[in-house]
Amino acid sequence: MAFFPAPLSRAESDLLADRCATLIRERGWGFWAAELKASHQFIGFVGLHVPTAELPFSPCVEIGWRLSVEHWGKGLATEAAQGALRIGFGAIGLEEIVSFTAVGNTRSRAVMEKLNMCPSGTFEHPLLPIESPLRLHCLYRLKRPRLET
Ligand SMILES: CC(C)(COP(=O)(O)OP(=O)(O)OC[C@H]1O[C@@H](n2cnc3c(N)ncnc32)[C@H](O)[C@@H]1OP(=O)(O)O)[C@@H](O)C(=O)NCCC(=O)NCCS
Repeated sequence: MAFFPAPLSRAESDLLADRCATLIRERGWGFWAAELKASHQFIGFVGLHVPTAELPFSPCVEIGWRLSVEHWGKGLATEAAQGALRIGFGAIGLEEIVSFTAVGNTRSRAVMEKLNMCPSGTFEHPLLPIESPLRLHCLYRLKRPRLET
């Protein structure tokens, strides 16, 4: 949570999980639970979300990820995100998916770059205080792939 304003308490984390489940029930998609294929161990979330904040590029659908630290660096976020993009551009039929993070979050930016998302400048996140070192965010965009004819 180094690139978020503060770690979540157990109650806040439970609330977030409940919101994810509610949004999936309402929309049919959202931030999905991520599991290891072999053991079905729960390791975090990866998926698609409509940001609640009004952002300079709203309306949009973002792809996001958050994994338990012991599972970092194994390509799991990228693998899960590739599945989420397939669903976003396929079954959901989105024209574009964006992603954004605090500029210093190089791990998350590496995932965006591995997904071939296009660096599209920076913006100040409106929900973070002006003085916050996390306020400056970078934006990545990915258009729906066109089928070769
Ligand atoms: C961002 C996050 C989901 C990445 O998960 P992950 O499974 O480790 O991601 P992957 O292994 O698929 O890819 C990570 C990439 O970061 C690279 N990386 C690892 N450590 C790094 C570092 N210190 N600096 C820069 N890049 C780094 C890896 O090398 C890898 O790229 P590569 O395969 O080209 O080498 C995970 O770190 C996380 O949960 N972070 C905390 C939550 C968060 O910040 N979420 C994003 C908020 S927008």
